[in-house]
Amino acid sequence: MKRTFITFAILITTLVAWADEGMWIPMLLQRNEAAMQRAGMHISASDIYDVNNASLKDAVVLFGGGCSGEFVSAEGLLLTNHHCGYSYIVSHSTVEHDYLTHGFWAADRSQELPCPGLTATRLVRMEDVTAQVLDGVSQTMTEAERQALVAKNIEQLSKSLTQGTHYRCVIKPFYYGNQYFAYINEVFTDVRLVGTPPSNIGKFGGDTDNWMWPRHTGDFSVFRVYTNANNEPADYSRDNRPYRPLKHLEVSLKGVNEGDFTFVFGYPGTTRRYVTHDAVDLAANVENPIRIAMRDIRLSHYKRAQELSPALRLRYATPVANIANGWKKWQGESLGIERLHGVEQKQEQERDFSRWASSRPEYSTVLGNLEKLYARLRPLDVKRTWYSEAILASDLMQRANLLDLLGQATPESDRWTQILSAIDRSNSRLFDEDTIWQSHLEVDRAIFVETFIAAWRVGQAPYMDKKYRSEAELRKGLDRVFDKSLINKPERFAAFIDQYSGSKDDLAKIAKDPAVDLLRVAKSFALASYLGSANQTELYNQISDSINLLMRTYIRGMMEQYPDSNFFPDANLTLRVAYGHVEGFRPRDAVRYTHYSTLDGIIEKENPNIYDYVVEPRLKELWRTKNYGPYANAQGEMPVAFIATNHTTGGNSGSPVLDADGRLIGINFDRCWEGTMSDLLFDPAYCRNISLDVRYCLFIIDRYAGAHHLIEEMDIVR
Ligand code: ARG
Ligand code: ASP
Repeated sequence: MKRTFITFAILITTLVAWADEGMWIPMLLQRNEAAMQRAGMHISASDIYDVNNASLKDAVVLFGGGCSGEFVSAEGLLLTNHHCGYSYIVSHSTVEHDYLTHGFWAADRSQELPCPGLTATRLVRMEDVTAQVLDGVSQTMTEAERQALVAKNIEQLSKSLTQGTHYRCVIKPFYYGNQYFAYINEVFTDVRLVGTPPSNIGKFGGDTDNWMWPRHTGDFSVFRVYTNANNEPADYSRDNRPYRPLKHLEVSLKGVNEGDFTFVFGYPGTTRRYVTHDAVDLAANVENPIRIAMRDIRLSHYKRAQELSPALRLRYATPVANIANGWKKWQGESLGIERLHGVEQKQEQERDFSRWASSRPEYSTVLGNLEKLYARLRPLDVKRTWYSEAILASDLMQRANLLDLLGQATPESDRWTQILSAIDRSNSRLFDEDTIWQSHLEVDRAIFVETFIAAWRVGQAPYMDKKYRSEAELRKGLDRVFDKSLINKPERFAAFIDQYSGSKDDLAKIAKDPAVDLLRVAKSFALASYLGSANQTELYNQISDSINLLMRTYIRGMMEQYPDSNFFPDANLTLRVAYGHVEGFRPRDAVRYTHYSTLDGIIEKENPNIYDYVVEPRLKELWRTKNYGPYANAQGEMPVAFIATNHTTGGNSGSPVLDADGRLIGINFDRCWEGTMSDLLFDPAYCRNISLDVRYCLFIIDRYAGAHHLIEEMDIVR
């Protein structure tokens, strides 16, 4: 019975899933054009991506290293999420000028705040370079030989593709290296903070509502790109001028109705759509539970500390947001995989493939070999997960790791400078205030001891057994490590780093440190990167390489098996288009979610005693007087967010959400929790992306912050 149900479910999903699943390559969008137009789009594929004329792609950027953003004015005004601008907002915030809490609005250009290190990357054009990248590659090569040749070809090609220009080139594999595309980019390095709502708007609902619908987060912030006098990228200078984009988006006040066509245009980071049942099982049932349990520990300590003082709240704001984000997503992902019988679904697909492949020698052994490799990978993967989520959970161990790496770096090399500056950054974050430091020590000690013991209890720290015979002894031992390490003596540690030259004495001092010593033993157990004969890192890499190689064959086989299907390539932080329609869903029995939320819901959630649900008096006043101006919907409500069936993932945050005419109607910022397995398995009944309604964004800028000058820069379509 169960079996029939699953088979049927797969049939259904393979037949209809294609409707909204997929993240498509802009250059090849002609292939989707007819389907997109049938779904309601009024524009053409070349309006979205064109190399000869300005097209929508010129209005979209990779924001920093992992978000998306869009130009909305002729003078380089850029919208992205609040959580994408978060660390820059935090870095400009102090307890006296707390922009994170109170918001910030530059009254004019001179007040816009430079953000060193922040970049905005525009795609100039892309090219299929498979032939050039695979030039010289033969069937008989080992994977390592192939990789070396591919790397060499990529390096040469990148140079030749950008010669004589200020562009930069990135070449990436698609379909596990069956295909390669080159991206010629323009990277802007002077990006300034223009405005941000206060946290209780930009992060309303906080980590409690994160990944959830109904949602009321005003998740946006405003930046501006600056260039030199030639409209070209330049590092920060007072003489720089606002960038004049080739294209900026029109902003529509028309809003959304259920069923409307929408598309999301941005930089999805990673999906693993084609992996086998073993990989799904490993993620859902092995890795995720470890990660979740270890993050429970860290979060409980950080959150408790955050209640103690505003300084500590600020100190832990970024780590808590990051740790909590994965923690919650993985819970949804594992549940979603279970609900979908994800492992069985994959097994069924694999049986289907095997039947087809049995008479094709090229493909007949692929799945069996993948299974064998996963059986070998699994225990190594478990070790690595414990190592990264438990052993490296504390600041102490993370900094011990930096010291260990420093000890291995060649003096004055790039790596050496990078590590030293990472240590400096962590020092200044920790030590600027004595009170923070004292509290942090206690928090970090608890995290260090508890996560370590958790790993030890399940046999993931057997190297401690020689020295300590009971948990109580181990606890004492860990406390001693914590107290004795130089890392936990702020002045002496800073002095050591200041004078560090990589001398014999320096190295001896590093080696003698009890935290570094412990780290090294733990690392060699988990990764064996430099000790012993059984080099696990190498083994792990070998196995992953072999899996990669087989996946290349497997996916090529699937494409051959189903020649009429349009297989989208997994996300890899390159520009993609996802399309679908605005739609609510049923998260569970007897519950139906509508497709949009409003300001009324913010007032409903208001709770002055809970940090995440505090509502600004000024926002409440605007709600009371219904002072929504042109931003209200037809029913007179102030819309806040909406959901749709677009296939998105991490990295898509900040992406423009566009209507049938290519106008901006929203800013993508999240997915619904019930659909967070979409990186592995997409289910049209549950997978929804969450977008900020652009009308709420404008309402906050205009009515709440009074920053009319920014609205005036935009092209608003009523
Ligand atoms: N879940 C969203 C994403 O993956 C938002 C994360 C930031 N917000 C937060 N409360 N941590 O990026
Ligand atoms: N919130 C994610 C991001 O930052 C988007 C997602 O995972 O859906 O990119």
